[in-house]
Amino acid sequence: MVSVLFVCLGNICRSPTAEGVFRRVCQEQGVADQIRIDSAGTANWHAGKPPDARAVMTAKGRGVDISGLRARQATAADFYDFDFVIAMDDSNVEDLEILRPVDASAELHRFLAFAGSDAPRDVPDPYYGGDEGFEQVLDLITEASRGLLNHLRTADRPL
Ligand code: 4NP
Repeated sequence: MVSVLFVCLGNICRSPTAEGVFRRVCQEQGVADQIRIDSAGTANWHAGKPPDARAVMTAKGRGVDISGLRARQATAADFYDFDFVIAMDDSNVEDLEILRPVDASAELHRFLAFAGSDAPRDVPDPYYGGDEGFEQVLDLITEASRGLLNHLRTADRPL
């Protein structure tokens, strides 16, 4: 069993989308029962809330239902509880490096490190923008999800 935690700022746009899309990619490749997937935010502003309605609609348009997810804040314990902590942008990586206990085992990565070389560094924060921002987020997350799963399958672990 491999465990993956996706992290953004609010846990209502990018990381719940990543949780839903990555779960779908794992299902398509027949490995969903071997991977535990969750998401969290570095901030606690939206704790307990469902994903942003625009994120729910955009994911639904791609056949992914994230309406049942609820936001929570990332904790230091997550770095012991998960094998991989996957951040949406450089700012998330900075916040998570501060939260991370020195002896914790989780690997911390930037999500788009698993996308193609044409991809930007960050999954852009779509919260204050228009609907097309959410479509772009879906595209980037879909590409990086495939790359991440390839990495997990080829890494030094039985998957
Ligand atoms: P997320 O987007 O980090 O992708 O969930 C945001 C959601 C809420 C806020 C910022 C970003 N906010 O400022 O409330």
